[in-house]
Amino acid sequence: MKVKSNRIGDIFSYYFDILSKGYPATEAKILLKRLISYYLNVETYKVPDLVADQRVGESLLLDIHFGVKKLAEYQPIEYIIGETQFYEHRFFVDKSVLIPRPETEEMVDFLWKNSSAFVSKPQILDVGTGSGCIAIMLSLLLDASVSAVDISSAAINIARKNSNYHSVDIQFFNLDFLNTSSWQLLPSDLDIIVSNPPYVLDSEKTFMKSNVLDFEPSLALFVPDENPLLFYKAILDFSLSHLKPNGQVLLEINENLGEKTANLFRPYYKKIALIQDINEKNRFVFASGLLPQSFS
Ligand SMILES: C[S@@+](CC[C@H](N)C(=O)[O-])C[C@H]1O[C@@H](n2cnc3c(N)ncnc32)[C@H](O)[C@@H]1O
Repeated sequence: MKVKSNRIGDIFSYYFDILSKGYPATEAKILLKRLISYYLNVETYKVPDLVADQRVGESLLLDIHFGVKKLAEYQPIEYIIGETQFYEHRFFVDKSVLIPRPETEEMVDFLWKNSSAFVSKPQILDVGTGSGCIAIMLSLLLDASVSAVDISSAAINIARKNSNYHSVDIQFFNLDFLNTSSWQLLPSDLDIIVSNPPYVLDSEKTFMKSNVLDFEPSLALFVPDENPLLFYKAILDFSLSHLKPNGQVLLEINENLGEKTANLFRPYYKKIALIQDINEKNRFVFASGLLPQSFS
């Protein structure tokens, strides 16, 4: 069977039938609305009913056709259209960066609400910036001076594209944060260190959806089971020499390692909070105020 005509109404019904073979109907509908609205450059709610009689040309029909083909292979829609929304802002993404998650928006929200009272024009470092979503949003919300690190040069390119799109000035460093000799390149006297580092155990791969496993970068996700807190240990050590005594550290964490991650920081910080996300899972560790014996 072929699509009946080049009317959006007909295109939608045809591709909905195809997609609903691999997705629950509600999800198939949402994905198709997003795909078609992206190619038509109209708001999602208008698809399909408000634009049902609009007709599309050959090249747009092909875009939709190949987009649906990729969706049918379970490629994430964000990679297909090359963008996503984070904190209600547009961010470009490709397969070199993690698709920003809603939990991470909560981290930005937390700092926005808690840090403006703590210091004006904070100096912030984002470790493992990926698309740059955290660094860029904090720069937009906090009038902050922001630096950001990532080991992936492809990710840094995307983060740069996003910072140009949002007209913010971020200092990017393409380096391996686990290599302590690279720390001398990074700013000291920081007010805030923020990070959503890789934290999924290799052994947790079995519980993950194939659209994440097959398409998102492993470099952004996984840590060895033998040393699951390696990024948190490095961030802690780094903070002892690069954070101001009254500084703050906010980290996204593996929900199963909440207490362990918090306990790493306890001997060095005055206040530690283990914070839950909207789904009531342990998702963030917030540490503030270095204890006097911790300074180096
Ligand atoms: C979980 S992703 C977070 C991306 C983004 N901050 C976000 O929240 O959507 C972790 C990021 O850390 C980067 N990364 C992994 N190992 C690293 C290392 N050794 N040094 C610096 N960055 C690293 C990855 O390339 C990836 O972009």
